[in-house]
Amino acid sequence: MDQHHLENRRMYDRLGREYAEKRKSESQSFWNDQVELPGIKQLLSPLLKDSTFLDLACGPGLRTKLWQSQVKNYFASDFCYSLLAIAKEDHDLLGNWIQSDAESMPYKTETFDLVLSSLLLHYFQDLGPIFKEVARVLKPDGSFVFSFHHPFDEILSHAPADKFPVILRNYHDEKSYEWGMLNVSFTSFHHKIETIIKVINENGFFLDELLEPRPSKESESINPKGYAYTNRFPSFMAIKATKR
Ligand SMILES: C[S@@+](CC[C@H](N)C(=O)[O-])C[C@H]1O[C@@H](n2cnc3c(N)ncnc32)[C@H](O)[C@@H]1O
Repeated sequence: MDQHHLENRRMYDRLGREYAEKRKSESQSFWNDQVELPGIKQLLSPLLKDSTFLDLACGPGLRTKLWQSQVKNYFASDFCYSLLAIAKEDHDLLGNWIQSDAESMPYKTETFDLVLSSLLLHYFQDLGPIFKEVARVLKPDGSFVFSFHHPFDEILSHAPADKFPVILRNYHDEKSYEWGMLNVSFTSFHHKIETIIKVINENGFFLDELLEPRPSKESESINPKGYAYTNRFPSFMAIKATKR
């Protein structure tokens, strides 16, 4: 595992329960629950029934019940011990939990019908190895549904909702960037849309659907500023790719 991954794992391990509590708060998890999740649901919904499903980088298992109630077999993995411990504690025997790095998983080849990774891919500088690994564990015609920081969002300053953000970085430089959560700093990597599509095609997938999710009108009262902001500038991208 490279230095960035080890450092990000240390940071998630440090946050542990604090991260899980933040995600359980309606206002603080506006971006995850009201913006990212609807996009993921739209892509996943037709595929869940009767599937053998992997929740890759499941975090503290906040969405376990949602997926587990619909799939045939639920598996989940994450590289962070403290988040996995929360997931196991909260869900007991609901799933098959494994601590593992996403680039090198202990599953047999062609195990899953469906792999989901919510907000994981921006932690990888080189996307090739993780796409190869997901292609390996997927059955033929299996689907990979994933979301990540929108490439445009990665190069903008996060201005208040009533102001236009400023472009901070060169879109064409696929460099790392730092961002903060709960006073902890994380390193992620910017990828151009061109790179993401290339990596999908070069690793045995077809791109089926690409979404730039926006929150529903009903969610505006939860976070009016966030709602206004993300309706002007996309925050996430969600993609469904099928193994050829
Ligand atoms: C933003 S959280 C998302 C958690 C969960 N997918 C969700 O949406 O609720 C990102 C997760 O990715 C995990 N993660 C980051 N890099 C990883 C890696 N290389 N291998 C496995 N998990 C990783 C972190 O531990 C964390 O749980």
